[in-house]
Amino acid sequence: HQAKLTLDPAFTIAPVRRRTFGTFVEHLGRCVYTGIHEPGHPTADDDGFRRDVLDLTRELGVSVVRYPGGNFVSGYRWEDGIGPVAQRPRRLDLAWHSTETNEVGVDEFVRWCRKAGVEPMMAVNLGTRGIAEALDLLEYCNHPSGTALSDLRVANGSKEPHGIRMWCLGNELDGPWQTGHKTAHEYGRLAAETARAMRTIDPTLELVACGSSGSGMPTFGAWEATVLEEAYDVVDYVSCHAYYQEHDGDLGSFLACSTDMEYFIRSVVATADSVGARLKSRKRIDISFDEWNIWYQTRNRDAEPLTDWPVAPRLLEDQYHLADAVAFGGLLITLLRNSDRVTAACLAQLVNVIAPIMTEPGGRVWRQTTFHPFAQASRHAAGDVLRVEPVAPAYETKAYGEVPVMDAVATHGEDGTTVFAVNRSADRAVSLEIDARALGGVRVVEATTLTDPDVYARNSADEPDRIAPRANPDVEADPLRVLLPPVSWNVIRLA
Ligand code: AHR
Repeated sequence: HQAKLTLDPAFTIAPVRRRTFGTFVEHLGRCVYTGIHEPGHPTADDDGFRRDVLDLTRELGVSVVRYPGGNFVSGYRWEDGIGPVAQRPRRLDLAWHSTETNEVGVDEFVRWCRKAGVEPMMAVNLGTRGIAEALDLLEYCNHPSGTALSDLRVANGSKEPHGIRMWCLGNELDGPWQTGHKTAHEYGRLAAETARAMRTIDPTLELVACGSSGSGMPTFGAWEATVLEEAYDVVDYVSCHAYYQEHDGDLGSFLACSTDMEYFIRSVVATADSVGARLKSRKRIDISFDEWNIWYQTRNRDAEPLTDWPVAPRLLEDQYHLADAVAFGGLLITLLRNSDRVTAACLAQLVNVIAPIMTEPGGRVWRQTTFHPFAQASRHAAGDVLRVEPVAPAYETKAYGEVPVMDAVATHGEDGTTVFAVNRSADRAVSLEIDARALGGVRVVEATTLTDPDVYARNSADEPDRIAPRANPDVEADPLRVLLPPVSWNVIRLA
């Protein structure tokens, strides 16, 4: 296949947003316990945080981390997670049929964020709780001192306020599985009144209203419109959540799953802008794509339901293969290409639970295949996102009709220009011609490819680097051409 794109710094979409490289830590399975936190582990620091996980979190290039859920937050009492650990209650976690020990709570999470060099993003419970508890948590976290709750934080060891800027007003309340599931109207009113009250404490907060849990939700579109009609003036973002998987061996459709993400983003932007027009508002609502990933949800559905209430069970521990990493790369390209409206995003999740980082309790840590596209994009995407107008032959997919075999985006900054590209073809390489004339005499300083003859090859604790980016030898200088192997994620750096 032949494909082409053009790099011209005059044609930009938006600045690269650091918050595009967010992730998510939920009290779910082993994400917190034996994920980020494991006091007895050989690498544990004084706070019980695994240093090996902290190191890989930094290497992954994470900017912001959403916490504490997810479905979990819709039944969570944040007060259970503060104060002396020995006195914290054990509770039933209805979302994941587990026992929550509350050994980690908001103060520990913020301490972990400081160590990881990431910004915390907090979700409040609008499932079983409401405005009062959201205000209490905000006061506890962000008010300097001199009130009961802020002094309690100080007494619990955090003298400085946590200074959390971004707050999610609940989680997936459009989903019937959510504890405290609501209609769009019920949720829109509650979100608006919670936001208004939170802004009385701090008008500069960045607030996220829940959008849809997927573009396939029966209420998709109508939900966003109704919620934003209520909350438009008092929120900054509407959220999107999307998970993809290969169905019935249909690799072609799976590798094109970013087609749905693109449609999802465009539809939400159109809906938000239409509400803005009706309200005669000049304000623009952005998207926080605060859950996205590959997730084999059908396997999860087929798993034996938990009948007891275990602590930190193995849940959602998907093992990703090469094709997953390439589909994932397509999603990253789509998020970057939409940086004019998607100004925050969280890969769900960070460790063990549908995650790029895996651990064994008491044991090793390793990188899943999906770790690499995320780490490379976070490291090399800088400056502005360019409009590159990729041209490539199309192939037929069952799920999305005709889809280009290649997709790409590029960023351009002081340190150079980087192209991120996926080849979705199962059997043919793509010869990508890059028209870089507008950049003046640049050359390829590094070209890597993530690929393997076995598209279902995975990494494991015993073979952690089976799938990792390798130098791409198939680069030509004039005209600039790079050969993208079948089913591959590619990074081409020019300077
Ligand atoms: O990330 C796993 C779960 O997916 C989250 O708890 C929920 O918000 C979504 O349905």
